[in-house]
Amino acid sequence: MDLSDLLTDIVATMASAEDRGQVASYIPELAKVDAAQFGIAIATADGRVRTGGDADSGFSIQSISKVFALTLALGKVGDQLWDRVGREPSGNAFNSIVQLEQEQGIPRNPFINAGAIVVSDVNLGGHQPRVAIGEMLRFVRYLTGEDDIIINEDVATSETATGFRNMALANYMRAFGNVRHPVDLVLGSYFHQCAIEMSCRQLALAGRYLMLDGRHPDGGRVVSPSRARRINALMLTCGHYDASGDFAFRVGIPGKSGVGGGILAIVPGRASIAVWSPGLNASGNSQLGTQALEMLARRTGWSVFSPPEEGD
Ligand code: DON
Repeated sequence: MDLSDLLTDIVATMASAEDRGQVASYIPELAKVDAAQFGIAIATADGRVRTGGDADSGFSIQSISKVFALTLALGKVGDQLWDRVGREPSGNAFNSIVQLEQEQGIPRNPFINAGAIVVSDVNLGGHQPRVAIGEMLRFVRYLTGEDDIIINEDVATSETATGFRNMALANYMRAFGNVRHPVDLVLGSYFHQCAIEMSCRQLALAGRYLMLDGRHPDGGRVVSPSRARRINALMLTCGHYDASGDFAFRVGIPGKSGVGGGILAIVPGRASIAVWSPGLNASGNSQLGTQALEMLARRTGWSVFSPPEEGD
């Protein structure tokens, strides 16, 4: 099977799709994005990158940033993070508050908003938000080798003006002592991390350490093999919120979505894949992005649930 031909097929199929989902509107700046776009990029373990469609257009990575933020937080506090954030799927929407009261302000996992806000609190570490944001930008630039990755300030400002649910989540967790810095600083950092803009090509490059058992493709280690496997496990079980089971069933590989319409998906040992189409399904995950990954997994046979092929 030729991957470039497959990408051409996927792009053509997605171009003719009638139901492209709805662009996120609760962050006003994201509502302006044209839903007709679709991009895909695959970085494979042999060092090649193949792209299709709008793979070089920048988009707001939003919740996909939670993967990189988690990686940084684990580097800072190690397994102590799990005293403050769980590792179970929530079965609830990404911005839900309902479990926090029953579970004493400990979010179910680091990929729902509440969990990511605690991770941002950890990453602040007593500094001003600009220090934590600078560290996050340096990290994604190091992962990709691309220095032109930026934060879209308009998106960050737009979410700061309208992020009332996140303010509620952060204040609620502060009441339980699980957010330790002032809420405006924690959210300033969180909103800016979500507003990082990357293309599919850049995002596929950024995910390579999770395909390579924690190694940076240019040498050295980003994380240990066990940490890379655990981040992949969390992506599989929690990366699509209350649709995580459905994503595992349909696609069968770890994935993390964002309301900007991107998804980062990892085939351990084989590929780091980024897809982007701004229209979302009812669970807030990219409608065509999910379909494209389903088609890719079916045609390649890639799955974390299948035995290794001959020669692997
Ligand atoms: O906090 C929010 O609501 C957004 N900055 C990110 C949410 C998100 O991407 C959820 N993903 N599907």
